[in-house]
Amino acid sequence: MAGPVILITGAHGQLGQSLACLSANIHPSVELVLLGRAELDITQAGSIALALKQHRPDVVINTAAYTAVDKAESEPETAHLINGIAPGLLAAACAERGIALIHVSTDYVFDGLASQPYAEDAPTCPASVYGQSKSAGEQAVLAALPSSIILRTSWVFSQFGNNFLKTMLRLGRERTELSIVDDQIGGPSYAPHIAQVLLQLAERLCESKQGTDKQQSSSGVYHFAGQPSVSWYGFAQEIFDQAVELDLLAQAPTLTAISTSQYPTPAKRPAQSSLQQGRLDALLGAQAIERDWRRGIKQSLLALKQMR
Ligand SMILES: NC(=O)c1ccc[n+]([C@@H]2O[C@H](COP(=O)([O-])OP(=O)(O)OC[C@H]3O[C@@H](n4cnc5c(N)ncnc54)[C@H](OP(=O)(O)O)[C@@H]3O)[C@@H](O)[C@H]2O)c1
Repeated sequence: MAGPVILITGAHGQLGQSLACLSANIHPSVELVLLGRAELDITQAGSIALALKQHRPDVVINTAAYTAVDKAESEPETAHLINGIAPGLLAAACAERGIALIHVSTDYVFDGLASQPYAEDAPTCPASVYGQSKSAGEQAVLAALPSSIILRTSWVFSQFGNNFLKTMLRLGRERTELSIVDDQIGGPSYAPHIAQVLLQLAERLCESKQGTDKQQSSSGVYHFAGQPSVSWYGFAQEIFDQAVELDLLAQAPTLTAISTSQYPTPAKRPAQSSLQQGRLDALLGAQAIERDWRRGIKQSLLALKQMR
């Protein structure tokens, strides 16, 4: 009997590429189908239907998204189409065919005004167009396919694509001094760590489908964020310390800690977007989850060094 098929959307993004890299580590009977926007455009019902018919997946992991947080303020329709409406189309198509769905979302569904880390069931209250569009996408997914899993994550970085770590490395080579925001606190998440969790969740869903899972339904919202929580300033400091240690930079720039008000951006960002992760720990076991972003920095930098 053929093993389970897991279809991944947004294959050329940070998470998509991280999932592709893990394919060697998964059980040989599991088939990963990685589709970029050209093969599966999640805003097009026809494109979704064709891909699902062709690949007949057991589980879909939706990593496709509009992730330009500031640009979304001036392109709200596009952000809403890709992040708010399209996930609902995907969920409806999965529901019709008995396919399980894992949808990736963000800490930016919260406004960051809470003094404690956000629980999985805390009411969403986005402060930006991007956050609103992602919150709408979560609701659309759960409405069309209530058994879906939503995995919210935060501050994604890796050796792939565009992200804070790569921006810091570039700026570190160009400048001797940098000012970095120190009053936004969150959990930098190494994309391959998230990818590992996504594959574990997908395996759970496959087991549930085959009736071998003795646990209760695993549907609903989960949080995954790197630990420990830190500010962008603290995150940058660690990136530069490690980059110098690994000879990727001759010298770290001088860093100055600044407040959000000193670095205005089109989109408002949460001041405190740490996430409670108890549901994920209870489902997968805390020991099975790698969350240390400092190790993620090292792995990203080593991979970037190899690419030079
Ligand atoms: N990046 C972060 O800091 C962060 C933080 C929290 C949560 N997240 C969430 O994590 C998930 C993955 O993020 P990421 O960092 O991997 O994003 P990413 O690197 O920007 O990748 C997103 C991918 O989605 C693709 N895409 C866009 N519109 C599409 C469409 N209509 N159909 C199919 N594919 C489409 C993009 O393709 P093109 O290149 O063709 O545009 C891109 O390859 C997203 O749900 C995001 O909201 C990200």
